[in-house]
Parts: sequence; structure tokens; C-alpha cells
Amino acid sequence: MPVSYKDLGLANTRDMFRRAFAGRYAVPAYNFNNMEQLQAIVTACAETRSPVILQVSSGARKYANQTLLRYMAEGAVRMVREMEKAKGASQEIPITLHLDHGDTFELAKSCIDNGFSSVMIDASHLPFDENIALTREVVDYARARDVSVEGELGRLAGIEDEVRSEHSTYTPPDLVIEFVKRTTVDSLAISIGTSHGAYKFKPEQCTRDARGILVPPPLRFDILAEIEQKLPGFPIVLHGASSVIQEAVTAINTFGGKMKDAVGVPEDQLRQAARSAVCKINIDTDGRMVMTAAIRKVFAESPGEFDPRKYLGPARTALVEMYKRKNREVLGSAGRYGEEF
Ligand code: G3H
Ligand code: 13P
Ligand code: ZN
Repeated sequence: MPVSYKDLGLANTRDMFRRAFAGRYAVPAYNFNNMEQLQAIVTACAETRSPVILQVSSGARKYANQTLLRYMAEGAVRMVREMEKAKGASQEIPITLHLDHGDTFELAKSCIDNGFSSVMIDASHLPFDENIALTREVVDYARARDVSVEGELGRLAGIEDEVRSEHSTYTPPDLVIEFVKRTTVDSLAISIGTSHGAYKFKPEQCTRDARGILVPPPLRFDILAEIEQKLPGFPIVLHGASSVIQEAVTAINTFGGKMKDAVGVPEDQLRQAARSAVCKINIDTDGRMVMTAAIRKVFAESPGEFDPRKYLGPARTALVEMYKRKNREVLGSAGRYGEEF
């Protein structure tokens, strides 16, 4: 029996993006695979009064189980509503459950039928007309159920498990109007120099600062500006937007890990993007790394520890702090649905 996201208390992205565009901030889209990540994301967003997109990749869906995911999302909404009631919040934060990088119509349909309120169909690897045809097929199914759809034009480089693209191709601004008109998507993911994972730029693409830390080439704000000018008022999405927080890299390496020359997108550039037409910023890798750093620290300092709560708990606390800081300092999404708790 299909379940509608509306019965789970979730929202699609339309009103969220309208407000984000007008308020010149971006809605955080944080990926999760397990309970601790989900708790951290919704706790941070509830406390900072930020809208939030809970993002699930096809790999995460396989890992967590489709049915369990639906109840986890419903549970997360209920937990947030209880927090809001306890604090006497004047508004509720909107919460979206979103499929990240859906690659087939069947996958998008299955997510929509199982309570997702938003889906991405990533057909950016296909020729232009085929990308449009597949994206439009998903839009037609989603629209009838009031689910929002994100499409993608241009390709990001990256080495994530199921999101592979050896070479990036910037989004061609000349094609965005036709893509949006023919697909009628609600938002468009673009490629302007971000990429997935912890190694976004090769050392030879970067310079080094005084501490020897890699400084990546700047994002292509000129392409973003051209796209904004061609699609006035239209929500743009930025994937591959982790900053690869250097404190987390250092902690991982200090406590037995090996992440050499990991580098991400500087946060000041993301802040700049969030003030533009970019209404959704995707962050997964930073969460993975902050969690790994905290767990490695416990294992290194307390080798006798074997209670998962004793290492997952500190990891969850570190995630909450990181997400709050992102909402406040990078995305600008904090305090948009009432006063922070
Ligand atoms: O954009 C990709 C996300 O980071 C998801 O990665 O496919 O390993 O879950 P994943
Ligand atoms: P990062 O790997 O930079 O966190 O990007 C995540 C992402 O784009 C998810 O779709
Ligand atoms: Zn992505």
C-alpha cells in the first residue's frame, strides 16, 4: 500500500525554496544512513530553527532498509514536534525526505510510494534529450502526488560509492532554460566546480597556504551568475558542498586514520553561494568525517571501550555541533522559523 509523505508529517521543497530564495539563504540537505546521524541532523535543525532536507542515497536506502527508513523519518518528525512543543516554538520547521541521486524511474517511484516528499532524478550522465525524457517521466509521476523533483544538468567529478563521474563538466548556461521548460522540474542541480567526497581537488589543482594546507581553485561564480540571469527566481542546488573540515582531517590522522591531502570547498564560498539563487546545499562527507574523527578518538584514548553508546554518543554530539555551525555560519538557515532554542 503506497503511503503519502503528508501522512508522515513531511513537506515537499516548494515553500521551503520560496522562502530560502527570498531570504537569501540555503536549506541544508544532510545525508543520513543511521539513527545517530538522523538524530543529530534533526536536533541541530530543530534547535537552530532551520528547515531541513533529510537526504537518502540509493546506497543509504539499501543499507538502512526502505521500510525502516519510512518509520525513521516519521519518528524524526514526531521527535521534532515534541521538542517544539516543549520549547513553546511559535512555528514548526519544515522537514523533507529526499532521494539523493535517483538514477531510474523505478527507484524514484518506489521512494515516492514509500513516503518521500522530494526526489532527485540524476540523469546528467545521459545525452541532453534522454536526460530530459527521464526527468520528465519522474516529474509527471511526482507532480500527481505533490512531490517535488530536482534534476541535474552538468556533471560533478567525484569518487563516492555510487556517484561516479571521472570528469566534471560545467553546466552549460545556454541549455538551462530549455531543460527547465521541458522537464518542469522544481529545482536544478548544477556543476560549477564542486565535487563529491573528501578529495575534491587534486593537489596539482591547488596552491598551499602557510601551514601547508591545500587551497582549492575558486568555484565558477561566473557560470552561476549566468544561470541565475537565465532562470530568474528559480531554485538552484549545489552538490558536493562539504568543506572537508581540516580539524576533522587532523583528528582522523592523529588517531590512526589516513586521509592525506583531503580538501573541500571553502565555507566562505558556500556562504556566498547561499546568498544567491542556490537554495539547497548538499553535505554528506563532512558528517562522515566528523563522526569518524570522534569515534577514532574514543577508540585511541579508551581502547577498552566496547559499548557502542560510548563512541556513537560522542560522535552524535560532535555532529550536532557541526550541523548547528553550518546552519548559522555557512547556509544562513538558522533562526528562519522562529528564535533559536
Ligand atoms: O552524493 C553522494 C552522497 O554523498 C551519497 O553517497 O552513495 O555513498 O551514500 P553514497
Ligand atoms: P559531499 O560529498 O561534498 O558531502 O556532497 C554530498 C552530496 O552532494 C550529496 O548529494
Ligand atoms: Zn550529490
